[in-house]
Amino acid sequence: MALRSPELVKALITTFPGPVLAIETSCDETSVAVLDGRRVLASIVSSQIELHQRWGGVVPEAAARAHVEAIVPVLREALSLSAAKPRAVAVTNRPGLVGALSVGVAAAQAAALTLGIPIIGVHHLEGHILSPLLGNGPTPPFPHLCLVVSGGHTELVEVRSPGEYAILGETIDDAAGEAFDKGARLMGLGYPGGRAVQEAARTGNPKRYALPRPKPKNALDFSFSGLKTAVLRLVEAEGEALSVPDAAASLQAAIVDALADRVALALDHTGARALSLVGGVAANQALRSRLAAEAERQGVSFFVPEIEFCTDNAAMIGLAGSIRLARGEGDATALITLANAPLPGL
Ligand code: KG4
Ligand code: ZN
Repeated sequence: MALRSPELVKALITTFPGPVLAIETSCDETSVAVLDGRRVLASIVSSQIELHQRWGGVVPEAAARAHVEAIVPVLREALSLSAAKPRAVAVTNRPGLVGALSVGVAAAQAAALTLGIPIIGVHHLEGHILSPLLGNGPTPPFPHLCLVVSGGHTELVEVRSPGEYAILGETIDDAAGEAFDKGARLMGLGYPGGRAVQEAARTGNPKRYALPRPKPKNALDFSFSGLKTAVLRLVEAEGEALSVPDAAASLQAAIVDALADRVALALDHTGARALSLVGGVAANQALRSRLAAEAERQGVSFFVPEIEFCTDNAAMIGLAGSIRLARGEGDATALITLANAPLPGL
């Protein structure tokens, strides 16, 4: 991977001039942000966790209804925190739960129409991939390697520039976040599972229970469905004797090992000079420190967003949208919502 010059990198991440209003409602967070370039002027995230806890997972229709209830108060709050009038709107339109996405898109269209400003639809994963560019800190060079780990996605992406992505490896079954969530549910740790597993694992012994670390045929792919089955067997076999901290620590270690193994291989194969870690699972402390150590070992720089910008948020959507708007993309007409959609630039 040939590195681009710092001047070119600066040009590549040129943002839209003036405040951008951003909306994200693809799953179970209603989020609105206002950005000025890379600077986050306001970021509000209203979570539906309590609503979905009783079912142990996201119920699409309930999520859409909750977005309808939350979107206006969240919009009001975010707009009240930034004095300047938005000059463009960015909204997640794909991929995600179509009913949930439609609430955000309709609100964004209404805002764009009322204010007479352009609107752009953003791919949710592009938002995660560009999230390390938020704020005033140093930005990852291009190209770099990015591990996207969320509730619905696990991908190793070569980020050539903002908008130019190549998928090097991906999960052949469950996502890493799903492995945390399903494992947590089986251990009685509730929903969502990632954070609960991390907390329970603090006092646990990661070597207590042997859990699988499957390697699919393509060396850079991931597989987590066997892990779920193994946790189910473990919970059934141990019954009352199960040590939840040890099981949580063993599950976390299996997921972190699998992710770190492919990242090490990809860094080696591609010769990338920088690594980024993004998505909800990037909030995991064990994974953050493990990849930081791996990056240091291989002599590459490591970038990971603040925890609040790892899990779903509108700020990352605003930034991805702002870069596209600065290139002249976007218009004020209808936006299509899609349950599945490839990353742009493939
Ligand atoms: O990016 P995200 O907020 O939503 C999707 O786009 O899917 O990711 C949510 C996922 C969930 O599976 C959740 O359990 C996981 O991120 N997660 C974590 C942690 N915090 C959230 N997983 C492990 N450790 C955490 N601390
Ligand atoms: Zn996400």
